[in-house]
Amino acid sequence: MGMSVTTSVATEDDAERILKLQYLCYQGEAELYGDWAIDPLTESLESVRAELKNRHMLVARLGDEVVGAVRGWVDADGIGRIERLCVHPRMQRHGLGTRLVRAMETLLTAEDPSPRSFRLSTGHRSVGNLRLYQRLGYRRVDVEEVNSRLSFVGLEKSVEAQNLAATA
Ligand SMILES: CC(C)(COP(=O)(O)OP(=O)(O)OC[C@H]1O[C@@H](n2cnc3c(N)ncnc32)[C@H](O)[C@@H]1OP(=O)(O)O)[C@@H](O)C(=O)NCCC(=O)NCCS
Repeated sequence: MGMSVTTSVATEDDAERILKLQYLCYQGEAELYGDWAIDPLTESLESVRAELKNRHMLVARLGDEVVGAVRGWVDADGIGRIERLCVHPRMQRHGLGTRLVRAMETLLTAEDPSPRSFRLSTGHRSVGNLRLYQRLGYRRVDVEEVNSRLSFVGLEKSVEAQNLAATA
């Protein structure tokens, strides 16, 4: 039987592995937008280390290997923000991305004060990501033009919607 994937809170030792995974996973996005300077590809190790201290980070592991990651925090407006979701190309389309988003939503819900809604965003041409987030109950709320090639589509869902999905 194969090893199973476990989801857990990232530790300081994971910083390098998270950055490497992110670098690998976001190549497709870079190609899609013809832009290899997107934030996930230019982030420094120091930045990942700082976020490990200041934000919630979850990783999916297969043995010692980090095969998935996601970050989250509750912002000043009480919105649970979810970012930098990535799953190793070899492991994609088996539900791991969904699992990581749901686990992050649960983690953020336990914050005090707990968020009233969740928000994430993706590039306007990333139709796979948009489909994934819509299936998770997120709805488009705004579009922000970054440059002529890229706009960010903002998606949100209420915490009530998440609770309903969890009990369905
Ligand atoms: C987005 C990502 C984390 C999804 O991880 P995953 O483990 O494959 O997610 P799940 O298995 O839970 O869901 C798969 C769904 O994601 C969507 N999807 C995401 N990327 C896709 C792609 N390139 N092609 C087709 N579908 C894609 C589809 O809706 C798919 O559902 P389907 O298989 O029924 O068509 C992964 O594709 C990834 O790392 N992508 C590169 C980084 C990235 O774009 N991150 C999101 C930034 S906002």
